[in-house]
Amino acid sequence: MLYIGIDLGTSSTKALLTNEKGEIIKSSSRSYGISYPNPGWTEQNPSDWVKALIEILKDLSKDHEDEINGISFGGQMHGLVVLDKDDNVIRPCILWNDGRTEAETEYLNEVIGKDNLSKYTGNIAFAGFTLPKILWMKNHEKENFDKISKIMLPKDYLAYYLSGVHATDYSDASGMLLLDVEHRSYSKEMLEIAGISESMLPKLYESYDVIGTLKESIKKELNLKRDVNIVIGAGDNAAAAVGTGTVGNNKCNISLGTSGTIFITSDKYSVDKKNSLHSFCHADGGYHLMGCILSAASCNGWWLNKILNRTDFDYHNTEMSNVDINNGVFFLPYLSGERSPHNDVNIRGAFLGLSHTTTEAMMGRAVLEGVAFALRDCLEVAKQNGVNITSTKLCGGGSKTTLWISIIANVLNVPVEIPYVEEGPSYGAAILAMVGSKEYPDIISATNAIIKTKEIIYPDSKQVSIYEEKYNKFRKIYPKLKGLL
Ligand code: XUL
Repeated sequence: MLYIGIDLGTSSTKALLTNEKGEIIKSSSRSYGISYPNPGWTEQNPSDWVKALIEILKDLSKDHEDEINGISFGGQMHGLVVLDKDDNVIRPCILWNDGRTEAETEYLNEVIGKDNLSKYTGNIAFAGFTLPKILWMKNHEKENFDKISKIMLPKDYLAYYLSGVHATDYSDASGMLLLDVEHRSYSKEMLEIAGISESMLPKLYESYDVIGTLKESIKKELNLKRDVNIVIGAGDNAAAAVGTGTVGNNKCNISLGTSGTIFITSDKYSVDKKNSLHSFCHADGGYHLMGCILSAASCNGWWLNKILNRTDFDYHNTEMSNVDINNGVFFLPYLSGERSPHNDVNIRGAFLGLSHTTTEAMMGRAVLEGVAFALRDCLEVAKQNGVNITSTKLCGGGSKTTLWISIIANVLNVPVEIPYVEEGPSYGAAILAMVGSKEYPDIISATNAIIKTKEIIYPDSKQVSIYEEKYNKFRKIYPKLKGLL
């Protein structure tokens, strides 16, 4: 039997067709744009995702019309998709990296209070989360707000489009700030704060649950011969963790996509003292702590495409590898403001320590290092809360740059494991589709059977100590720039 894993990303939707052993038969993707209606705002039209989805399903199912048994999803988290009483999309989706909700976030954290939010949900408010966006609609688009009949997350809209069922999963719902994460149910207190009823929210499932089957009309359009299970899937980070085998207890995965995340699994619910990290449900039935930096591979993309006007991602890799690490050049990766751990929508990126001898390669390396240091900031919070990781997996676009992987190994001082399949969310989604379709009894046995490591990059003790010093300088920069940029 064959399975389709869909990753609904920010710049494109990427998907894989695999067999039940996780062997990849085909892949397909479609890109789309982001609209920026105001500085710091980001939106996408769900109809663009649907167009991409259908084209991808056509690509992947061609010549396999009678073999496809399940489809599942990993999706960009926190986005607000609102439907009216006829299930029409009311307005474009407000994305995870949108910074318009500063006032609503402040209201939640200061007036409702971080302690209350943490008690009800395990989390505090961050501008990108879904609830501040709902409050923003109430404050700024009352007419649209009054039309809302259903609130969904991005991948849930695709699952709805294919199955006709309004559903979500615990991992993605964790990022709405409406879920009581510990007890895996919507929080009555938070629904009251939001001014919405539970019936407006999708029904909650585990990520590997089947929510329905592919609608007859779409089955016909794709010329598929058998019923196809629609498995709800997970937020992209939880799906990526499944796709790299980061399941069970105290395992770590780093994802270097548009955003960068450090994702640490736990079989028990926990929160860090200041709620700087997100405490969310995992797709394996457990929990995780996660730090999310808003710009990761997108910093490298910005540097190469926008500033240097290059499309070759290995441009100046050799020069960057030969740069003296002690060159005093720093880059702050806050191109979209920052989520974890600073929770600051107004901070912006910066280069520091430039001199007449600074080269393009030094600045390029500083970009890679700045992202690694920002991930280390998140890891430090986890360490202060007694979490100690001994290695990490890594996936996403950034995993193709060997120099970047070794910088991360040295900055975090842990071995970095690169899996054979580096796609992360789409591979994890295919595994969720397999478990939902009963190919495996649970996620852990599926990932044990499927995930293989391609290579492990170990830290180098000399570089670890140089980076320790450099990181100690890096961490002093943000407090000095806070409020200035
Ligand atoms: C996680 C987050 C991002 C998006 C990217 O909290 O906001 O990683 O999920 O798609």
